[in-house]
Amino acid sequence: MHEGLRNELDLFERRTPGSKAALAKAWPYMPLGVASNFRSYEPYPVFIKRAHGSRVWDVDGNEIIDFNLCFGAIMAGHCHPAVVKAVQDRLENGTMLGMPFELERELAEEIIARFPVEQVRFSNSGTEATMHAIRVARGFTDREKLIKFEGCYHGVHGAVMVSVKPDPEKWGEIEAPNRVVASAGIPKGETDATLVATFNDLASVERQFEENLGEVAAVIVEPVPMNIGIVMPEPGFLEGLRALCTKHGALLIFDEVKTGAKLGRGGACEYFNIKPDMICLAKSIGGGFPLAAFGGRRDVMDVIAQGKVFHAGTYNTNCTVIAAGLAVFRQVLTPEGYAHINSMNTKLVNGCNRIIAASGLTAYSIGAGANGAVLFYKEQIRNHREWRMVDVDLWKQYWFGMVNRGVMPQPFWWDEQWTISVQHSEADIDMHLAAFADLAPALAKAQQERGMTVSYAAH
Ligand SMILES: Cc1ncc(COP(=O)(O)O)c(C=O)c1O
Repeated sequence: MHEGLRNELDLFERRTPGSKAALAKAWPYMPLGVASNFRSYEPYPVFIKRAHGSRVWDVDGNEIIDFNLCFGAIMAGHCHPAVVKAVQDRLENGTMLGMPFELERELAEEIIARFPVEQVRFSNSGTEATMHAIRVARGFTDREKLIKFEGCYHGVHGAVMVSVKPDPEKWGEIEAPNRVVASAGIPKGETDATLVATFNDLASVERQFEENLGEVAAVIVEPVPMNIGIVMPEPGFLEGLRALCTKHGALLIFDEVKTGAKLGRGGACEYFNIKPDMICLAKSIGGGFPLAAFGGRRDVMDVIAQGKVFHAGTYNTNCTVIAAGLAVFRQVLTPEGYAHINSMNTKLVNGCNRIIAASGLTAYSIGAGANGAVLFYKEQIRNHREWRMVDVDLWKQYWFGMVNRGVMPQPFWWDEQWTISVQHSEADIDMHLAAFADLAPALAKAQQERGMTVSYAAH
C-alpha cells in the first residue's frame, strides 16, 4: 500500500473507532455485517447515526457533507420538509391498503407528463422495475433474448446479473463480449438468454442482433452508465440503438433508475431526445422511500391488462411511499430545483477540474445533471474495459482523504459518482472544493511516484 493511502487510512481509523466497533458487533449476525454488499468495504464502513439536509453524522459524532445520498437515491436531500410533511400527513390515514387509491393515478400522471410513456406500473426497487419491464418486453414480443451492456448494472435478478464487472480473463473480444454470470445461485437457464454488447460500440450490438435474428426481445441500457463512474454516450450511440431496435422489432428499455430524476425533468429521454419503448425509474423519485416504476407505450404495457404478463406486489404503492413520490415530483423536481442543482454541479465539476490542472494530477471531473465524479484516468472513459484502468488505490486515497476532511465525495466504490441534492448549498460546494484542493497535492505526488497504475479491480 502506498504511503499517501496509508496516512489517510490511519487518520480514518483514528477518527472513526465507533464505526469499527459497530461493524464488529454486526458481523456475527449479518454476512459482512451489512444489509447490502455495496455497503461493505475495508477497513470498515462509516456507520451513520443521523442525517439531515445535506449532512450526515456518524456514530463518532463526525459531521460529514453527504454527496453519497444513498447511492444517488435522495436528490431531495435528507428529510426534505415537503417529503416529511407529505409522509406525516399520510401516516395518520393508512399506510398500506392493498386496494386502489387515487394518489396512485396522480403519481402515474406526473410520470407520464414528464417521460415519453403512456402507462406505468409501480414497484419497490430498481431490481423489480427492470425485472418486470424485461418480462413485459418478452411477453409483448414473444421473444426471449435480451441484449445488455458489459459494465451496466440493472439490479440483482438473474437475467441482468451478467457481465456486470467481469474479470479481464473472462472478457472475450470487445466486439463480441462473453456472457459472464456475476453470482452463484442463478440457474443457467436464467442467464442463457442474455447477450452482451459493448457500450458506445454499435457494431457489437448489431452483431448480436444479426447472430440472433428475430429472437431479441429487448435491449436494456443505462443511457449514461453510472455503475462505471460516469460514461457519456457518444453522439449517435443512443440514436443507433433506437434504430437497431426498431429495425429488428425489439424494444428499447432505458434503465433510468439513476438518471430518471437526476438528468432533468424528463430524464435521459429528454436529455438526449430519444424515445425508448420502456423506462424504469427508482431511487431519487422516492425522496428517501422505496418507490420504483416501469412504464412504456400503451400497446406494450397492455400485455398486463390482457393477462398475458402477470405483475403484482403486496407493497406496490404503499401509501406513504406514493405520498413521498408526489411531494418529490411536485415540490422537489421543479424547474427551480433543477436550475439550482445544475448550477451547483457546474461549479463543482469546473472547480474540481481547476484543482486537477493546478495540482498536475492526471484525472478529470465529469458531470451530468445532479451527478459528477473525479476519474483517475488519462482520458474520457468510454466503456467498462477502459473504466477498469483507473488507479484504485489512488481513488481510495481520494475517498478516505475527503471523508477525513468532512466530505463524503460519493458512495464508496470507484464505479459510483456524487449526487447533489436540492438542499446542498453553495457553501457545501465550496467546502467540497476546499477539501479536494487540500488533498490534491498529495494525490498528485502519489500518482507521480506510482506512475499510471492499472489495477483492474472491480470490487
Ligand atoms: C441503473 C440501475 N438499475 C437498477 C438498479 C437496482 O436498483 P435497486 O438497488 O433499487 O434494486 C440500480 C442500483 O444501483 C441501478 O444503478
